[in-house]
Amino acid sequence: MLSAVERKIGQFVEELDDKEVSALYAKLPHGKRLRAKLILKIAGTSLPVIKTAAVVEMIHAASLLHDDVIDDAYTRRSKPSLNALYGNKTAIMLGDILYAKGFFELNNISPEISKMISNSVVQLSLGELKDVSLSKSFNIDKKIYLEMIYQKTASLMEACAGAAALLANKDPKAYKIYGRNLGIAFQMIDDILDITMDTQTLGKPSLHDFVEGKTTLPYIYLYEALDDENKLKLKSLHGKKLSDNNTEWIMLMMQENNIIKKSYQEAKTLIEEAITLMNERGENALSHIAMAMIERDF
Ligand code: FPP
Ligand code: MG
Repeated sequence: MLSAVERKIGQFVEELDDKEVSALYAKLPHGKRLRAKLILKIAGTSLPVIKTAAVVEMIHAASLLHDDVIDDAYTRRSKPSLNALYGNKTAIMLGDILYAKGFFELNNISPEISKMISNSVVQLSLGELKDVSLSKSFNIDKKIYLEMIYQKTASLMEACAGAAALLANKDPKAYKIYGRNLGIAFQMIDDILDITMDTQTLGKPSLHDFVEGKTTLPYIYLYEALDDENKLKLKSLHGKKLSDNNTEWIMLMMQENNIIKKSYQEAKTLIEEAITLMNERGENALSHIAMAMIERDF
């Protein structure tokens, strides 16, 4: 029933009655619609559920439009990002429009759902600001990293699962933990893929996050594993364009210290906890979504 969500988003966009916005929206790749899938699997396909899923996907799309401007990212889902195609101003405004329309429609669902989703958007905005601020220095505090990715990524998934449970008259507690764990694991894997994916697709890693100043989980673990001299070397490379030699050195240190496996294991533990929670409730489809996430290599 993901197609019903797609149609609802299309309808919301058409209601804006603006040809430019419709044309820009048509250029946006839809992505996996993971948040909508979660909501549908928890709550079925009634109209309020479809609307909630559509609104959440519009808010998510808006946040990525802004994020690509903030991160100077010129690709999104292997295609040119909207900011690359039309510039930052257009990308920011399309984000604002999708976000505002989503919020308008959220008010037509229920005050409880509206409160849960809107509060998570406050969190995700705070998380994005933290991400930006943290990238100005060499953060090696895992607790701070975890808090930031919870806010930036997991808070919306937690709210999706919680809101869907409310819509389905289920106890939101376990579903919120499920969404939170999935969100944190999702971001951890995203951060791991920034290191490993380029190696597969480009033949060499770009380490884009590290160059941008982001010390994600693998870098935090690597720093912990290195001796004092190499700690200093890693720190000196942070936030700068990397030579091929230095890129190779980071990758070699990652390999020698088993860093990718260790980081991946941390995400896997969260996924396993989420799967156990859902298995206890006979929510097999939700366990499968969690399982697929840990196998994701894109
Ligand atoms: C992706 O992080 C970014 C997010 C999950 C959240 C972005 C949030 C905002 C820009 C603030 C909220 C704005 C609105 C309009 C609701 P990433 O850069 O680590 O992931 P990526 O690899 O997908 O770019
Ligand atoms: Mg980004």
